[in-house]
Amino acid sequence: MKLDIIHLLDEKNFISGVLISKKLNISRTAVWKQIQILKKLGYEIESFKNRGYRLVSRPDIPLSEEVLFKLNTKVIGKKIHYFKSLPSTNLYAKDLIKKNAEEGTIVVADIQTKGRGRKDRSWFSPEGGLWFSIILYPNIPTQYAMLVTMATSVSVVQAINELTGLSPIIKWPNDLLLDGKKICGILTELDAEMDRINYSVVGVGINVNNSIDKELKDKAGSVIDFNKSRISRVKLLRLFLKNFDINYFKLISKDYNYIRDLWFLYTDIIGKKVRLKGEDTVAVGIVEDIDDTGCLILKTDNKQIKIVSGDLEFF
Ligand code: BTN
Repeated sequence: MKLDIIHLLDEKNFISGVLISKKLNISRTAVWKQIQILKKLGYEIESFKNRGYRLVSRPDIPLSEEVLFKLNTKVIGKKIHYFKSLPSTNLYAKDLIKKNAEEGTIVVADIQTKGRGRKDRSWFSPEGGLWFSIILYPNIPTQYAMLVTMATSVSVVQAINELTGLSPIIKWPNDLLLDGKKICGILTELDAEMDRINYSVVGVGINVNNSIDKELKDKAGSVIDFNKSRISRVKLLRLFLKNFDINYFKLISKDYNYIRDLWFLYTDIIGKKVRLKGEDTVAVGIVEDIDDTGCLILKTDNKQIKIVSGDLEFF
């Protein structure tokens, strides 16, 4: 059921059930039903017999009606599927692709019970974080696929910065750090052939207001730890979608340097001494560059190597 009623409820004035039903062209019973759904979701709504309904407070839930209100993006986020709980938003997004979901569709959940990270790790996804996936069909050569993830990390930095004034740093390939602690991770799942990408599901996990698992506290943090007050997940997601819509459009217009240049603005990795752990390899050296496809160029003692993926540590 659509919850358009959200936009008619006001925190100052009462609005009558009759007026709502006229404006939305629905029955009084349908109005009542929508009010009950909102109350269940945590919206506090007063109602008095002869005055109607008044909104007392709204919870911070990334419902489609809240996130998309007057957002006006070109492609990204035209449709949002919101869930209280899902095993994994990436998994759900892949199911939607089988049903021909539109490009830019977003799947968001308050909690993930089987949240997944890179390299088959689990991703702790309790209430208070922002866990979502984006469905994309980027018409770019497969070799540039990493730029989709780079455009995503850049857009998360921009959204956090616009909302809080904080400036996360991007750690290659696509972790976001505040004060050395990981506050966001991105898991991109790709279905591609040599010459074309069939789909890309980009999963974004941002520790926004949530607690951090005890074992992860040394390495991970939440944006709230640095902002001191609660952050609106709805506003953060809206800002992300606005920025990603612009950056993704640049990418599919084949303006690869636009994304790469932006990415460089938010990283401090060049010239750093790093250790890079691959599946069975470890490489140590100085980061020389990130090439135009997003690979890391490492200068070791005696040669230059190109690295496609791995876990990076500074030392
Ligand atoms: C990483 O290992 O750094 C990537 C973490 C990605 C987590 C996000 S949360 C939303 C989406 N759904 C998942 O199951 N994983 C990604």
